Amino acid sequence: MKKAEIFIDGKKSFDLPIIIDTMGNQSVDIRNLRQQTGMITYDPGFGNTGSCQSQITYLDGEKGILRYRGYAIEDLVEHCDFIEVAYLLIHGYLPNKHERERYAELLNRHSLLHADMQSFFRRYPDHSHPMSILAAMVVSLSSFYEINLEEDPELQIDLTVTRLMSKMRTIAAFTYRKMKGTDFINPSYKYSYCANFLNMMFSSPVVPYEPNPTQIRAMNKLLILHADHEQNCSTTAVRLIGSAGGNLYSAVSGGICALWGPRHGGANQAVIEMLQQIHTDGSDVKQAIERAKDKNDPYRLMGFGHRVYKTYDPRAKIAREVCEEVLQDMGQRDPLLDIAEELEQAALSDDYFKEKNLYPNVDFYTGIIFRAMGIPTNMYTVMFALGRLPGWIAHWLEWHHDPFERIGRPRQLYMGPTSRVVPPIEERE
Ligand code: SDX
Repeated sequence: MKKAEIFIDGKKSFDLPIIIDTMGNQSVDIRNLRQQTGMITYDPGFGNTGSCQSQITYLDGEKGILRYRGYAIEDLVEHCDFIEVAYLLIHGYLPNKHERERYAELLNRHSLLHADMQSFFRRYPDHSHPMSILAAMVVSLSSFYEINLEEDPELQIDLTVTRLMSKMRTIAAFTYRKMKGTDFINPSYKYSYCANFLNMMFSSPVVPYEPNPTQIRAMNKLLILHADHEQNCSTTAVRLIGSAGGNLYSAVSGGICALWGPRHGGANQAVIEMLQQIHTDGSDVKQAIERAKDKNDPYRLMGFGHRVYKTYDPRAKIAREVCEEVLQDMGQRDPLLDIAEELEQAALSDDYFKEKNLYPNVDFYTGIIFRAMGIPTNMYTVMFALGRLPGWIAHWLEWHHDPFERIGRPRQLYMGPTSRVVPPIEERE
């Protein structure tokens, strides 16, 4: 076993084991550090901290590699649909034809929402952000579809996974219908997962509607691109809630809330708002670049930069190709795409972005595709959540089945006041 030796004050030294993972990356095992040295580590944002051992997704931020269960993202987007990839992440292997058909049939069977849930929807405050509705509706599934662990726990978990995978898509579509003030359209056995979503979103009794095959293909690819990304902020939230024994619905609702943030999944909405602002202000890309570089200006280039990728996010490359496909199919050019491509070119040739390894990430082009598909801007992060769901489920299950699993509880450096006596209120200033 390889070891790391730490010296404290140049004198006492301690050996810490080194763990080598499947890809040869090395980690110092500090599980006994405090017991051995009385010390802890300090790593705000956890940029240097491994929180778990996982077999789900592998990222190489320097080489721009992303693999789900060992399969390259480029291969999965090319050869699979979202249901196959969701099955892969959750079960650990790609389904054969029979398994995929059975899974699709199961998802279809569980795709309706309880009637009382629909009235809950109706009473939710108008003009609420769709992510707030999504988080509330997902956690309410634990009330409408109770998890009875007294019965066969593993079967109950499997049923919960299937319900969540299927009903969250219905909830997402109903959120749009609520925003538009139109009747809910229920899922139909006639359609595949993505076609069903588009039909629930856009079909209408007064005009003929059939989901567009190019958009169905594009949605499958986009959901695959978002399906998992190892220990990102929202997945860590899901694992943390799961580690306390939180059920899957509550953990995923927590993940939705974390993803909502503009630094994380909310960035796809922020990218479109940024591009629209640049367009409105006369498309001065250079000004946007200068503002993003100005330390005194909180303005950032949304859709750029990443904690792990220090090269082009492989998902952004694929999203850009899908964007061209969808716009070509619609016979339209979006001025925001022109601005995005000009912004990318300007940033990638600018020393500030090159020195800090800031490249387009998954959120840079996806919003333009959702926009072309008629999905409202404030629902882009809902689409991200729909894609990330199988990843969240896979990580919750992995923690749930981990023999070493413990409740997640980091420590801190206390920098507050030392011990003080409470003065009587009359004597306080
Ligand atoms: C996602 O973790 C995941 O895997 C997330 C995700 C997933 O699939 O789950 O990939 C999805 O969240 C993608 C990221 C979407 N967010 C954005 O596009 C928002 C804009 N990006 C930044 O806010 C930022 O790049 C983060 C949040 C993504 C990463 O932040 P880090 O790793 O904490 O980096 P940092 O903020 O410390 O920045 C390092 C430097 C800083 O400059 P200095 O203080 O060193 O001088 O780079 C600068 C930052 O100011 N910088 C940017 C920038 N991003 C970082 N400057 C201008 N524009 C930007 N976008």
